[in-house]
Amino acid sequence: MSIATATRPATATHRSERVDLYVGIHKALRHFMTDTLHRVGRMDANNPDDLRRTLAQFEGLMELCLQHVHHENDFVHSAIEARQPRGAARTADDHVEHIAHIAALRDEARALAQAEASARPALALRLYRHLALFVADNFQHMNVEETQNNAALWANYGDDELMALHQRIVASLPPEENLLVMRWMIPASTPAERAQVLGGMRAGAPAEAFAAVLDAVRPHLDDHAWDQLARALGVPQQPGLAHFG
Ligand SMILES: [Fe+2]
Repeated sequence: MSIATATRPATATHRSERVDLYVGIHKALRHFMTDTLHRVGRMDANNPDDLRRTLAQFEGLMELCLQHVHHENDFVHSAIEARQPRGAARTADDHVEHIAHIAALRDEARALAQAEASARPALALRLYRHLALFVADNFQHMNVEETQNNAALWANYGDDELMALHQRIVASLPPEENLLVMRWMIPASTPAERAQVLGGMRAGAPAEAFAAVLDAVRPHLDDHAWDQLARALGVPQQPGLAHFG
C-alpha cells in the first residue's frame, strides 16, 4: 500500500462540511512557494553552498509544481469535465501558462548557476522577481480552484466519490513526492488537520513509512505543535522516532 492511501484530505471548515481536495495540497504549495521565494531573495549568489542549496530547493519546488499541474489535469479537471463540460476550462488554461512559466524560471536558474561571479547578483535578483510573479499567479489560481472548481466538484460528486478520487491521486504519487508534500503540508496545517491527515495515514500505511513522515515533519514543528500532534496521535513526544508502530 502506498504510504498515504488512507490519508484523508482535511474536510470540515466553518463554510463547508464537504470533502475538499484542494485545501491540504494548496497549503503545502503556498508554504513551499513562500519559503523558497524568501530563500532566493536572501541568497548570497556568490557563496557556492548557499547558491547550490537554494537552487536545489528552487528546483524541488518547480518539479513539484509541474507534477501538481499534471495531477490536477489528469484527475481533478477530468472529473469536473466528465460531468460539467468545460467546467475546468479556466484553470486548465492557467495550467498551460504555468508549465511555460516553470520552463522559463528553470532557464533563468540554469543561467544563474552557470554565470560568472560578477553577473550572479543581477541574475539572482531577476530570478527572485520572476519567481515572485509566478507565486502571485499561483495564489490567484489556487483561489479560483478552491472556490469555482470546488463548487463544480461539490455540485456533481458526493463525498464518497471525492474521497475515492483523493485516494486515487495519493496512491499515484511516488513515495518521495508524498514525503515532500507532507514536509510542507503538515507544518502549514492546523492542529486538527495535522492529526486528521497523519491519523489517517497511520491507519493505512506501514509503520516505517509513517515514522519516515513524522521524521520529515518533526524538525519543522515547534515544541508546542509537536507535543500537540504527538498527543493527538498517541505517540511518544520525545525525539527518537524509531519506536512507532
Ligand atoms: Fe491548479
